[in-house]
Amino acid sequence: MEQPYAIEMLNITKRFPGIIANDNITLQLKKGEIHALLGENGAGKSTLMSVLFGLYQPEEGIIKKDGREVSIKNPNDANELGIGMVHQHFKLVDVFTVLDNIIMGVEPTKGPFLQKDDARKKVVALSEKYGLMVDPDALVENITVGMQQRTEILKMLYRENEILIFDEPTAVLTPQEIDELMDIMRGLRAEGKSILFITHKLNEIKAVADRCSVLRKGKYIGTVDVASTSKEELSKMMVGRDVDFVVHKEPAKPGDVVLDVEGVTVASKAHKNNAVKDVSFQCRAGEIVCIAGIDGNGQSELVYGLTGIEPLAAGKIVLKGHDVTHASIRKRSTSGVSHIPEDRHKYGLVLDYSLEDNMVLQRYFEPEFVQAGFLKRKAIRAYAEKLIEQYDVRSGQGPITAARSMSGGNQQKAIVAREIDKNPELLIAVQPTRGLDVGAIEYIHSQIVAQRDAGKAVLLVSLELDEVMALSDRILVMYEGEIVGELDPKTTTVQELGLYMAGAKREGK
Ligand SMILES: Nc1ncnc2c1ncn2[C@@H]1O[C@H](COP(=O)(O)OP(=O)(O)O)[C@@H](O)[C@H]1O
Ligand SMILES: [Mg+2]
Repeated sequence: MEQPYAIEMLNITKRFPGIIANDNITLQLKKGEIHALLGENGAGKSTLMSVLFGLYQPEEGIIKKDGREVSIKNPNDANELGIGMVHQHFKLVDVFTVLDNIIMGVEPTKGPFLQKDDARKKVVALSEKYGLMVDPDALVENITVGMQQRTEILKMLYRENEILIFDEPTAVLTPQEIDELMDIMRGLRAEGKSILFITHKLNEIKAVADRCSVLRKGKYIGTVDVASTSKEELSKMMVGRDVDFVVHKEPAKPGDVVLDVEGVTVASKAHKNNAVKDVSFQCRAGEIVCIAGIDGNGQSELVYGLTGIEPLAAGKIVLKGHDVTHASIRKRSTSGVSHIPEDRHKYGLVLDYSLEDNMVLQRYFEPEFVQAGFLKRKAIRAYAEKLIEQYDVRSGQGPITAARSMSGGNQQKAIVAREIDKNPELLIAVQPTRGLDVGAIEYIHSQIVAQRDAGKAVLLVSLELDEVMALSDRILVMYEGEIVGELDPKTTTVQELGLYMAGAKREGK
């Protein structure tokens, strides 16, 4: 017998100023299936899910639940219908505990009294049943991203939601956490839940999804059975052309030392120990050095120290023979350092500025963009248009789009474009392809290799093992604030790299 549909979104159209985010899209979710939603950045996936969750009202189209038309005017309506959503950017209250976040809005009461013990029992039972390890009493601001996500999932389960939407849940997770999440999703499916799973990662779709629907530029392309569809076929549906999964590069020809890091120590904000402990390495012109490691082993703080966001507790940084240990962020930038930051909202963009103003954030004072104290608006626009075209940055209104309204992947592409186009001596790229689809990853990887081949030094910080193996010429593994090994990507294996990353192996000192 055919599985019945839990949810049907029929002929949905949703417009934003200047763009049709969803153009007549139909998506049918069967009961008890994991249904992947695949599409490039800006394809309209989050918009479609926000329509289902009641955050947006579509101009056209209807939604059916169990074959009956329903009206979803807001998230409360969605919740009543058993629909829950884990958002791309979590929506937890930082200063509340895990437990309070889970029960918020549906606190159990007896008369006027809160029955928190009952709630706690239910949360603990759910977390054991589905392998969702959380500490109910921890404050959200103190827990890892992985635990925040598990809290969001528990929030849906506590509300007994049957339709679970995951909007790019793996973008923020470590490889280990991703494996755990896949197991959790399989467990939820076994309990009869129906899951909509948004991801760019074809491996993840192959690993857990039953069917996959593909969107491209706001349009519905098709729905396929995952087991009988290859990764190549999926990616072709997504980007409309064949995609190359291999990074083409010649052996590196390292030249002079560009970055010399000596005994760098950076204090931690989260705890008493130093986050980076006496780290030394060099990065030469014409090579890509990658810092690999599990999230939270000091990589972020090392980059803060190198870029001037945080002062060093000890050590020295020399850039092309000049000591820049105490130089300001701007001085480092004008001396030839580009930085693709990990946190694109905090350090990458001014969200309330337009896209074009963001493109010249560190350069507006250069003669190309300013004359006698006045910004040359035409020059700035032309420059932004060039980068938008070259890097395929998609947005509703081009250069004048507010950065805030752009999709995460297109924000990322804008930052990468700006930082690489500065033509730096040293490019520090932290998770440069996070959240991007295969087509965009292919382009950015080729640009990073082109930087190297133009004789620039590249320091890549990445949590993606595939990216580390494909791009780097040398790998430095960070564990608990120290560099515990240097590996050659041509001779090492992912397994060996994993042992260093987990602290199970280190080079004798
Ligand atoms: N609130 C909004 N206002 C204006 N434009 C938006 C808004 N949300 C999304 N968009 C635009 O709609 C398109 C689809 O975005 P989105 O659904 O976030 O894509 P995806 O999740 O597939 O990356 C993008 O071009 C994006 O810039
Ligand atoms: Mg999205």
